[in-house]
Amino acid sequence: MRYDLTLPRRVVFGWGRRGEIGSLTATLGRRAFLVTGSATLERSGEIAALRENLSAAGVEPIDAGRVGREPEVGDVDAAVARLLEHRPGAGDLVIGIGGGAALDLAKAVAALVTNGGRPVVDYLEGVGTGAQIASAPLPLLAVPTTAGTGSEATKNAVISSLDPPFKKSLRSEQMLPQVVVIDPELTVTNPPHVTAHSGMDAITQLIESYVSRRAQPVTRALCVEGLVRAWPSLATAYRDGGDRPAREAMAHAAFLSGVALANSGLGLAHGVAAALGVHHGVPHGLACAAMLPMTLRTNLPACEHDFAELARAVLPDAPRSDAAAAVAFIDAVCALADEVGIPRSIGALGVTAADIPALVKASHGNSRSGNPRDVSDAELEALLSAALVQAESAVHS
Ligand SMILES: [Fe+2]
Repeated sequence: MRYDLTLPRRVVFGWGRRGEIGSLTATLGRRAFLVTGSATLERSGEIAALRENLSAAGVEPIDAGRVGREPEVGDVDAAVARLLEHRPGAGDLVIGIGGGAALDLAKAVAALVTNGGRPVVDYLEGVGTGAQIASAPLPLLAVPTTAGTGSEATKNAVISSLDPPFKKSLRSEQMLPQVVVIDPELTVTNPPHVTAHSGMDAITQLIESYVSRRAQPVTRALCVEGLVRAWPSLATAYRDGGDRPAREAMAHAAFLSGVALANSGLGLAHGVAAALGVHHGVPHGLACAAMLPMTLRTNLPACEHDFAELARAVLPDAPRSDAAAAVAFIDAVCALADEVGIPRSIGALGVTAADIPALVKASHGNSRSGNPRDVSDAELEALLSAALVQAESAVHS
């Protein structure tokens, strides 16, 4: 047995624990650059409360950027330029508070301001000039306000570009947040569709990491724990946003999915989801959710035993044989996606037959390399063509 495992240095989890951010921040520095997400946090008074909390702990809060959608290269470069005007250095840190987009922007900014301020594109996998994060980033404290991406536990920031179209990662072992504060109460105001999309993202990450080529025993154990918690909770949180146990379970599962993906990688669903995001503007979680049933069916020949194990973890009446249990697991995933309003066809996401070759081309990347089965471009093209009008979710249909 042989594995590596990287984790944020400190994780503080619990209902209402955002009140501890001030004292936790004071252990990292005296000036905190705030990178925030959608305007909802500002309107609900959360950002004002955070600033007061920081000031009371002797930390000066400075606004450094806000992003209400998945960050693009221009967003990152603009935020870096703004932050550099404050001459960041020792005693400074970055706080990212928001969904995965805000946390990714915070991670990218924290890393780039200490590395010469070159354009972010130079550092991106696959499209950059090979520039590396050589110097330590500013310390980062991450506060997720959705339960899904797990970005609080990962060492990469996903950055998009519309022209030329790509969605690529800025990645470094040094980009892991130093401190993570997960307060599930912050997710109570997420509307049902955000709860559904982010929750299905977490579930996709847990399943893809469990069967990834790079899976290892620790992350596999975390994936099972995450799925057992998320399974009954996602639909509950979707229907009743104020259900505390369901919100806690989803926030916990999302964090575990981030630890798993950071250490074990993902698979085909995430590979195609990146392409759907760039070419069709499909939100990340929705794209993952829409791709998950197709990915599970495609991987079934390589993953029968693994899917059967997951079935036995989450389904009370899982069949005894691996073959039947694996199929039951896929059917149950499809039923869950249906229950939270995920469309069964990618046609419903605005994709047409003419778009498929470009989607296949854009789906190569780090995620797809972890998929447990080799899927050729020709096979993926056929799969996506079938998914255009997928009407039935059952494996046998
Ligand atoms: Fe994801």
